[in-house]
Amino acid sequence: MAAGLAGHYTDRMDALKAAPEADAFVAGLDALLAAALARIEEAAKAPPAAQIGVRELLVVALRNEIEASEEAAMWLIAERDPELKLGLARQCGDEAKHYRLIADRLAALGHDLSGHDPLAGGHSPMFRYLKSLDTTAERLAAGPFAREALAKVRNEVFAQFCDAHGDAETARLYREIITPDEAYHHELGRRMLPRYVRTRDDQERARRAVARTLQIAEELQDVARMKLGISSAPGC
Ligand SMILES: [Fe+2]
Ligand SMILES: [Fe+2]
Repeated sequence: MAAGLAGHYTDRMDALKAAPEADAFVAGLDALLAAALARIEEAAKAPPAAQIGVRELLVVALRNEIEASEEAAMWLIAERDPELKLGLARQCGDEAKHYRLIADRLAALGHDLSGHDPLAGGHSPMFRYLKSLDTTAERLAAGPFAREALAKVRNEVFAQFCDAHGDAETARLYREIITPDEAYHHELGRRMLPRYVRTRDDQERARRAVARTLQIAEELQDVARMKLGISSAPGC
């Protein structure tokens, strides 16, 4: 073995030894996530502007679902681990299914979506950040683990908004179909992460990815409320 290569493996072994156990590290990420989600949930409960109702918030959800589907699609191609690849494939399909269910619900509410392009305004800063991530550890941490946990919390706030506005059917769609899928996507990230955060470098990347994802989510939530009067919107 060449000296340089031997050095590479020695370094990697050192990193393995030095890094906290992967399970303990992911438990630490849970705590970071829970603290930010509590803040985001509180802010999301602020009522939207008077002109924003269930239909307007469902239209916002369409872009989130399309972006989540694209995110899983672009990442699944790069993975070799069949469990992760198939998990992302399921997520990709689930998000597409959510888009269809939401579009059907909008149609039932009398909202015409013909000609609607959910990406007409371009991809969101959240999507652009996720797309920039290079490692499996970062992708799992930011996407399935953090963004899908965010979706669970936001969807329940939205379901409560639907209840308060007499739309039990939309609340049911979220509570019985969409949110359980988002919970599965979060659990996929939670379950797979320990395999991909065995070195200090991967752990640091994953931690930063979770923190940055949550920070972007909070910033976007503030901008949507201040500029558009949007609050209580569902996730993805
Ligand atoms: Fe999802
Ligand atoms: Fe979704």
